[in-house]
Amino acid sequence: MCGIVGYTGNEQAAPILLDGLARLEYRGYDSAGLAVRDGEKLAEVVKATGKLYHLADKTDQGRALPGACGIGHTRWATHGDPSMVNAHPHVSGNCSGSGSGQVESDVVGVHNGIIENFTELKEKLLHHGYVFYSDTDTEVVVKLVDYYYKKYKIGPVDAITRTMVRVRGSYALALMFRDYPGEIFAARKDSPLIIGTAQDASFLASDVPAILKYTRSVYYIGNLQVARVSPGQAKFYDLNGDEVALPLTEITWDAAAAEKGGYEHFMLKEIHEQPAAVRDTLNSLVKEGRVVLSDAGLTDDMIRSLTQIDIVACGSAWHVGMAAQYVLEDLACLPVRVELASEFRYRSVPLTEHTLVVVISQSGETADSLAALRVAKERGALTLAVVNVIGSSIAREADHVLYTLAGPEIAVATTKAYSAQLIAMDALAVQMAWVRGTVSQERYEKMLEELCTIPDKIRRILEEKERLQWFSSKIVNAHDIFFIGRGLDYAISLEGSLKMKEISYIHSEAYAAGELKHGTISLIEHNTLVIGVLTQSLLFEKTVSNMMECKSRGAYLMGVTTNGHFDLEDSADFTVYIPKTDEHFVASLAVVPLQLLGYYTSVSRGLDVDKPRNLAKSVTVE
Ligand code: G6P
Repeated sequence: MCGIVGYTGNEQAAPILLDGLARLEYRGYDSAGLAVRDGEKLAEVVKATGKLYHLADKTDQGRALPGACGIGHTRWATHGDPSMVNAHPHVSGNCSGSGSGQVESDVVGVHNGIIENFTELKEKLLHHGYVFYSDTDTEVVVKLVDYYYKKYKIGPVDAITRTMVRVRGSYALALMFRDYPGEIFAARKDSPLIIGTAQDASFLASDVPAILKYTRSVYYIGNLQVARVSPGQAKFYDLNGDEVALPLTEITWDAAAAEKGGYEHFMLKEIHEQPAAVRDTLNSLVKEGRVVLSDAGLTDDMIRSLTQIDIVACGSAWHVGMAAQYVLEDLACLPVRVELASEFRYRSVPLTEHTLVVVISQSGETADSLAALRVAKERGALTLAVVNVIGSSIAREADHVLYTLAGPEIAVATTKAYSAQLIAMDALAVQMAWVRGTVSQERYEKMLEELCTIPDKIRRILEEKERLQWFSSKIVNAHDIFFIGRGLDYAISLEGSLKMKEISYIHSEAYAAGELKHGTISLIEHNTLVIGVLTQSLLFEKTVSNMMECKSRGAYLMGVTTNGHFDLEDSADFTVYIPKTDEHFVASLAVVPLQLLGYYTSVSRGLDVDKPRNLAKSVTVE
């Protein structure tokens, strides 16, 4: 986790660094810091705990920090509590206090990732007379660079590569050396880092939106590579210190796409962007009445040879997998397992070359999903990444990639990326069914036609959002909410429940409706809210019965169902209708009222919708 930025050029660095950090706050926001150099002078380090505006206030929006070269960091704590002393940047000098102010140090650095063997390295450095002021693994790595820098005296690139050989774990590092004013050195392994160049300036960042305002020309620094960055220029080196040439990539997406565009929160904006995200993703896959998987490199022969699909992901992406499981099994008649990436990576799941492991990830950087992908490849499975961020680690390492076109997602709670993943998986299922001969030509064409109606149906649901806003005001003081459903409706309930709890902080659980009576029903008491999802006709009556079991124990009932099931109103206290569609694709519609309910409940409770406590958007630690 964490976000890092860097700038070197002719302008005052601090305001540019703060602006970049503001766009990376989704990566963590428990403390932040800057280190800026004014010409040859020592670096000035300023830190603040809490959200970024504290740091901005402390530096008069950056104006109080002179200098045209600097690095910055926004933190999500891994080692050490979120305090001034643990906030980045960290320095190599044996200073007391929190390492802030003008610090007598040869090396100053910021880091995103985790150094796994930092205790052992710290022992070594203590032995060599280094004194530590923080609990962080970052201070250790900065001091280790300093140690090699002084020991071998061949310069920063050499000191960094020697350090890289010694550390285990993941990192994106940006470092400034006292003897190299105007330059920033960077290194990367398994954590994202990009370097942008413009006329007389260069930028570093964990993610593109942080620098898009200044440049669209970007280098994706490779794993285990080092960069030497000066105004308008970047050079890259491998672990041997040999220079390597990297291509300059032009970012084509719109900077405005990363802004709020008039909505109160990014989450609401992104909920409204779902018709476009789904349509764009579909348009990239469906061409002339066919799903085209050749861009993803999946051939019909590969699809025919499959005997098993394993879907591996975390969080909402795992919920997409849960939904896709029902669709794939039913349409393509393939056995499907859905695994949490954090579990999968440590299990001995048997895989063969006929197993397709699908890793679903918005960011393409989730540490557990990346590790699971590597495990799957090692064990000989065919791998497919369904990823939103182009050039991300998972996209680069998978055998095949199917990109969702949701654009940048800023709110921590995912909405449009989830919907784009869902539609991509539906299109994949339909195509697999066709290639494997489990659906007729007529059925195939009808399903594709139906998929193309989904964006407009989502738009229609969004037009009714005021009803959800009204209902959320009634449940604002709820203590517990249960989401129940069967089959695909259970998968939808999982996502509805997560949206509710992660941003409203109301305890909520999703349960397979038929399983409730085996324990959880004892939690139902007077006025407990139970939300039933009932979109599958075969299972409708059964879920209604389960809801009635809750009602007879005092529960207050809300139902989400498709147009036409008006009899639900006899049982539920509040009913939401969604347009009819092929029941395989209904998750794309049923999830929308549940996203809105979570959103408005969080707003009614006065919470920070886009940045819920304790969470980060991209979880690049185990
Ligand atoms: C975090 C986010 C979730 C997301 C999950 C997986 O927990 O808050 O919204 O579903 O990570 O992220 P990924 O980028 O792999 O989809």
